[in-house]
This record gives sequence, C-alpha cells and structure tokens, in this order.
Amino acid sequence: MDSTIASVVIDNGAATTKAGVSSDEIPSLVFPTSYSQNANTQEVVVGDEIHAHPANDVYTLMKHGMIYNWDNIIYNWEHVYASLQLVPQESPLVMTENVWNTAANKAKTCELAFENLQVPIFSLVKSPLCVTYGMGKATGLVIDIGSSVASVTPILDGAILAKGLKHSRFAGDFLDLHVMNYLTTTHGLKLDSLLPARFANVAVSQSFKTYQIGSVLDDFKSSITALSNFPLSLLQQYQTGLKHYQLPDGKVLPCGPEQLHLAEPLFQPISYALPPPYTIAPSAAGGPQQQTGGLMELVLASLKSLEANGDVYGQLLSNIIITGGGSLLQGLETRLLNDLNRFLPNFNISYYSSSGINSVERKFGSWVGASCLSSIGDDGLVSGFDSGEGLFVSKQDYEEFGVDSVVQRFS
Ligand SMILES: Nc1ncnc2c1ncn2[C@@H]1O[C@H](COP(=O)(O)OP(=O)(O)OP(=O)(O)O)[C@@H](O)[C@H]1O
Ligand SMILES: [Mg+2]
Repeated sequence: MDSTIASVVIDNGAATTKAGVSSDEIPSLVFPTSYSQNANTQEVVVGDEIHAHPANDVYTLMKHGMIYNWDNIIYNWEHVYASLQLVPQESPLVMTENVWNTAANKAKTCELAFENLQVPIFSLVKSPLCVTYGMGKATGLVIDIGSSVASVTPILDGAILAKGLKHSRFAGDFLDLHVMNYLTTTHGLKLDSLLPARFANVAVSQSFKTYQIGSVLDDFKSSITALSNFPLSLLQQYQTGLKHYQLPDGKVLPCGPEQLHLAEPLFQPISYALPPPYTIAPSAAGGPQQQTGGLMELVLASLKSLEANGDVYGQLLSNIIITGGGSLLQGLETRLLNDLNRFLPNFNISYYSSSGINSVERKFGSWVGASCLSSIGDDGLVSGFDSGEGLFVSKQDYEEFGVDSVVQRFS
C-alpha cells in the first residue's frame, strides 16, 4: 500500500462514535452513535443533528459492545465519509471491534464495507490491542469502561490471552440508571423535569425524550459523582463536601454523601442492586465471558482464568491500562489501585494512561491505536493473503477468497 494514503478509522461505541483519518492524532469526529428517523418521511438523521429533530424517533446501533442494528449501521459510516468529505472507494477503512465480536458480525461488517461502501482495502482490529499499540506497549492489562460494557483484556507480547477476557454490563449507563433512580425516587423528581428546557414546549417523541434525559444523567454523573478511595462498606465514616447540580428546570439540587453512593455500584453492583424497572440482568448475547460482579471482580476473574505463573501476573499488573469514557469517573484510578493492592499485596501494581478529563488515552485510546496501526502502511501489510499475513484485506482478495476466509483473517 502507498503509505501516503491515509486510512479512514472508525471506532463505533454504544454511546459515541470516534472517527477520522489516520494522519490525524485524535479523531476529528466524535458524535452520538444513536441516530434518528422521521416516521413520515423515513429520513434518517445522524450525528449531532439529531438534537435538531425532536419529533423523530431515536434508535441505537450497538448492544453488549457489538453492532446489532445491521440495517442501519451503514448510515453511521456514511455520515463519517460525508463529514470527512471523502469517498469510501478511495481510501482504506479500518474499524475496531470488541474481542468477543462474533464471526457472523465480522462477516456482516466485511460485506457492508466491501459491497455497500465498496472500500478498496479493509481491516478489523481488536480494540484492546489498539489501546496497547497506541501506547507503545506489547504487554498490558487493558481495562475499558465504556457506556454499555466494562471489559478486562490481558495482552502478553502483543497477543490477547483469550482465557482472561471478561466483561460486564456494569459500566457508564448502569451508573446513569443509579442517578435516575436517585433523582426520581430519593428526590421525587418527575422524569419529564429532566428534559432540557429548550425542548419543553416542542413536540418530542418518547425515544427522543429518553435520549435527552440520558444526556442530563450523563452530565450529572460526570460532574457530581466520585468514587471513594476505599469500598464504602469498609469505611466507618466518610466525609464529602456538598456539590450542587442545576437541573434543567433551574432548580439547584445539593448532593452530599450520595456523590460516593452513586459511583460505588461500579464496584459493588450486587450490593447496590437497582429496583425495577431499572434492573440490569446479564444477557445471553454477552456470551460466556460475561460476568455479574463489579469492576474489581472483573479484574480478579480475568487474572484467575489465566492460570498463569507469577511472572505473567507481574508483567500484567505492572502494565495496567485504563481506558474508555467511563474511566473518567472521578477517583476511578485511585480506587482501582487501592483495591488491587489490597487483594494482590505481593505484586508491584502500576497503571499507565493519564487521568484527567481531557486524557486522549481514556477517551480515544482505541481510535488512536487503530490509527497508528493503519499508518504502518508498507506493502507487506496488504499482500500475502495466502500466507495469512497482513493487517488489511483488499476488495480483490475478498472477491477471490470469499467472506469466510476474510473473517478467518480477522479472528
Ligand atoms: N467525566 C466523566 N465522568 C464519568 N463518566 C464519563 C465522563 N465522560 C464520559 N463518561 C461516560 O463514558 C461513557 C462513554 O464512554 P465511551 O465513549 O468510551 O463509551 P462507548 O465506547 O461509546 O461505549 P461502549 O464501549 O460501551 O460500546 C458514558 O457512559 C459517559 O457518561
Ligand atoms: Mg468503547
């Protein structure tokens, strides 16, 4: 491949899509993955534009870290090309996927990429490998906290240790539900009062309302809640200052110790079980690696499943990489380190990736790594389909060898 041709890189998450060209350092496009559609005209609206169409119904594209809405994911990808003012036929496309993505999903992705978009060259890269690669590491324990999924992936010398892959549904959205429960149950607020004021007097669909209220819950969580340095159940007493949150209707809500109680479920989902209708149950679609415990249990279950020697554990635990928007929760890294040190006192535990609200590794780690990978761009990456080498598959190879061979390449 001509290394001067930049690839288009798309990292679809349940909440946000990060996209851009590989010559950029960070994704130039970050937009909501949900799209909306006008029930009468069937016109589809993608990206931030959905805020301007309150009567439209809002739909999601991903569940359990995987695309499920195959009839409509193409609108998301087309939006990327339109926004970048690029034509799909003219540049390689690189997409990220979760490690538990199924062969059937990979096949559908390849078909859409080669047949609908007609990209000349395509690659599907595993998110946690991208994260380590982007940080210049071959070994690491990648902890990704997104909106719908939290996952732990051990990587040793550039290879994913599949036995240690674990994930759960206790991530950002789960905490949003706790915030919703707190506002509606503890404070008796009507859900409608959480709708941003600019939509108060316009016709809004129910799904649009839910979507907008979700943004307010996200905002409350990000600005008010914080993780305690130690499990609340172990503390005799704890002090928090008072924070204030201005609700969409202008009322100001004071928030004391709840700041900590609302974040604690990330680590203790069972002790902080939600009442119906907010309950989150494991789903069959999550597969065998899906766990029902909190973040710390996810990490411990991952390490235990490896059945490795102390040296491997040592390497992983001294290279913890924390990523995903949910990891921006205040206090997350301190709590994680404290818990790990308590459970695994004989290891030297350290994490990489900067904290802070603007941390590129946290927000865009997967995209940045995928972008670096696709920029390697020498001929060896494209050719050699027969030998199973290379990161990319060409349209010609796809047509000659068929979708199953291509899927095998990305397994
Ligand atoms: N400052 C913050 N504090 C706490 N949570 C935050 C912060 N900023 C973003 N988030 C949360 O991060 C989540 C989105 O993260 P991310 O973009 O990594 O998810 P995603 O990749 O779209 O989802 P998934 O990985 O589950 O498919 C949301 O739940 C959002 O509320
Ligand atoms: Mg994600």
